[in-house]
Amino acid sequence: MQQDRLWNEWHPVCKAEELLEDPKQVFVLGERVAIFRNEKGVHAFKDLCIHRGAALSLGKVKNGNLVCAYHAWEYDCVGACVKIPALPNGRAIPKKAKATVYHCEEYLGLIWVNLGDNPSPLISYPEYNMENHRTVICGPYDVNANAPRIIENFLDVSHLMFVHEGLLGDEEHAEVVDYKVDFIDNRYITSKIPVYQPNPDGRSKGGYADYVYEILNPTTARFTKTSEGSDDALTILLIVNQAGNEQSQAYMLLTRNYDLDMPDEPFVEFQDTIFYQDLDIVQSQKPELLPLDLQAELHLKSDALTIAYRRWLNQLGVENGTTPVLERV
Ligand code: FES
Ligand code: CO
Repeated sequence: MQQDRLWNEWHPVCKAEELLEDPKQVFVLGERVAIFRNEKGVHAFKDLCIHRGAALSLGKVKNGNLVCAYHAWEYDCVGACVKIPALPNGRAIPKKAKATVYHCEEYLGLIWVNLGDNPSPLISYPEYNMENHRTVICGPYDVNANAPRIIENFLDVSHLMFVHEGLLGDEEHAEVVDYKVDFIDNRYITSKIPVYQPNPDGRSKGGYADYVYEILNPTTARFTKTSEGSDDALTILLIVNQAGNEQSQAYMLLTRNYDLDMPDEPFVEFQDTIFYQDLDIVQSQKPELLPLDLQAELHLKSDALTIAYRRWLNQLGVENGTTPVLERV
């Protein structure tokens, strides 16, 4: 079921370096979530104090506990209330005094939250730890669209020559050769798709690059770009947090095995440019929810990857990224 499926996915909510001593408020699938860090690691609670409903993210972390800003109830990192200052000495803390705890991990330089009871495994991104590879995080990019629209745009080959004309494609080289899409190891992967790049990554050497795309789960996709005769490889991992029905935050991990001594800024700036070129298009797309009925729109062979994505969402029962109704107590 869709509810289960997106509830049990991991959502990137902020860069790890942004979660320091103060708690933070984030949104996942329409749910208000407080995240905080203590010496044991990172933690996520429903952002609601059971006493009077104040946002726990307004509080602070004291001795490893999250302390509500309103009446200073203190919650330990498994959500148990361990101190209520207003209680006279010796009076027991009510058993129901608890915070709702979600899964939270620090991974790949990001903080991830999972609201589900049966969390899917975290994605694997081996490039992150590879020797002679350097990863930089781009984003978060705020987008008024739901996650599958953003993922689909990333998987769309035939827009590169128009939306990113001069940077990632060339109008004179708009044809997309037939490519294969396979389902291997629980993910979709394409054969190499050659795309003419007038100025790959701002490095001004025109020529064909080969893109290999993968879809890892409903909200995560990646590609690796290589070119014949060169060992250079650029991988981009796109992960989207569906914050609300039509609000998402996209993060991109850019991993390169070249220009390792170069500063990261030009790479990030280039990626920002590319992302903002897509933004108006993605936010303009109707219907807001990706149509999973393949009869609903027209498809070409060059759309094979996005067709595979829509089919997969359909099979998984992900209703194209609607915010599921919370059915937990
Ligand atoms: Fe949080 Fe009262 S509302 S302690
Ligand atoms: Co694009």
